[in-house]
Amino acid sequence: MPANTLSITDNRTGKTYEVPIENETIKAGDLRQIKVNPTDFGMMTYDPAFMNTASCKSAITYIDGDVGILRYRGIPIEQLAEKSTYLETAYLIFYGELPNKEQLAKWTYEITHHTFLHENLKHLMEAFRYDAHPMGMFISVVAALSTFYPEARNVKDADSRMKQIHRLIAKVPTIAAFSYRHNRGLPYVYPDNDLSYTGNLLGMLDKMSEAKYQPNPVKERALDVLFILHADHEQNCGTNAMRAIGSSMTDPYTAMAGAAAALYGPLHGGANEEVLRMLNAIGSVKNVPGFIEDVKKGKGRLMGFGHRVYKNYDPRAKIIKKTADEVFAVTGVNPLLEIALELEHIALQDDYFVSRKLYPNVDFYSGLIYEALGFPVEFFPVLFAIPRTVGWLAQWVELINDSDQKIARPRQIYLGYDERDYVEMDKR
Ligand code: ACO
Repeated sequence: MPANTLSITDNRTGKTYEVPIENETIKAGDLRQIKVNPTDFGMMTYDPAFMNTASCKSAITYIDGDVGILRYRGIPIEQLAEKSTYLETAYLIFYGELPNKEQLAKWTYEITHHTFLHENLKHLMEAFRYDAHPMGMFISVVAALSTFYPEARNVKDADSRMKQIHRLIAKVPTIAAFSYRHNRGLPYVYPDNDLSYTGNLLGMLDKMSEAKYQPNPVKERALDVLFILHADHEQNCGTNAMRAIGSSMTDPYTAMAGAAAALYGPLHGGANEEVLRMLNAIGSVKNVPGFIEDVKKGKGRLMGFGHRVYKNYDPRAKIIKKTADEVFAVTGVNPLLEIALELEHIALQDDYFVSRKLYPNVDFYSGLIYEALGFPVEFFPVLFAIPRTVGWLAQWVELINDSDQKIARPRQIYLGYDERDYVEMDKR
């Protein structure tokens, strides 16, 4: 019997089946041969939330959650956060290799020259209520982009795909910044293509009457590092949405609007917003023990803690903690930091959190930096969606080029009624 197989004995029939193992995985489709009667549908697996199901093969991001490893295309996140820039990392994620000087210059040029939005999109944004959540605006405008670039539906055309990719990476900071200015009742600021990716974003957010906006280099770099950390994270909820929607061969704008919608939830990219709300609600270090007790009793969660994959300190959280110190040296310490540190201190010693392997995730400290940089909490998920754009797009292209993939369509276990007759209204 070949070693790289799994033997399964069906005790209902006494039959044994042999299924190949590849990459430590068996194909769920191989289980379909396991039947009691020839007319049976065949065996399936039941895996709500895909806890133990690989939905694709990918060469982009590697995570070992037990030891806290994150690598993009093999390169540790710590090295990228220290040495790279967001646009260089975006190139790496997208193409699989670090760019040489010319490649980076060309990539930067392409992205920088697609930053402007069609004026009608600006008018669309102006139509939102003054207090519209910026993430709602972001999702809507990303979806609306598909109506401006109808050729994007040619998803099998590599040149067209590339064009939409440049556009999306370039335009998301502009959409984000317009939503921010809208909330403040401030005039929208057009992109400044002389600035870096994050410098330009800061300019579109903060510029007032000055002729030329100059970003603070510490803030610009801090945002760049945060963007590197958020650029991809393999098959998370938002990326899974991108792939599921993309599998119907819809255009990338529509698929990405769905991915951003998934990201918006408080258990995912909305968690950084929830962390700040939680810290504000706790209000003081002296209230931390009581809050922890409430969490342990099931009265809410410690937001920014826990992760489906990391059962160790999220490596991104470590880097963010260091970046926070650099930002606070410029902006002054965020008073909520003291509460966050105390929460972390208590939680990391408490058996409830230790036994469940709950550690700070990327969102625990990112919100504190965003707040120190002057961003309102509603804007935090948008700051997550901007850099994740490249991850979504790289995963989408991988999906389109993967001959194993088909339209995403899970099975269900039907537990409802058997066939029964319609009952007339007067007989119910
Ligand atoms: N606070 C308190 N208890 C928690 C927390 C938390 N933050 N997270 C998990 N638990 C507990 C659960 O109650 C459960 O306990 P039980 O076994 O006694 O029922 C156990 O730990 C396992 O939790 P699950 O919900 O099964 O873990 P899952 O992998 O489904 O959830 C998730 C992961 C959603 C991230 C969860 O840890 C959570 O809700 N965290 C808070 C929200 C958050 O910070 N999200 C950001 C994630 S990072 C990102 O998306 C960028």
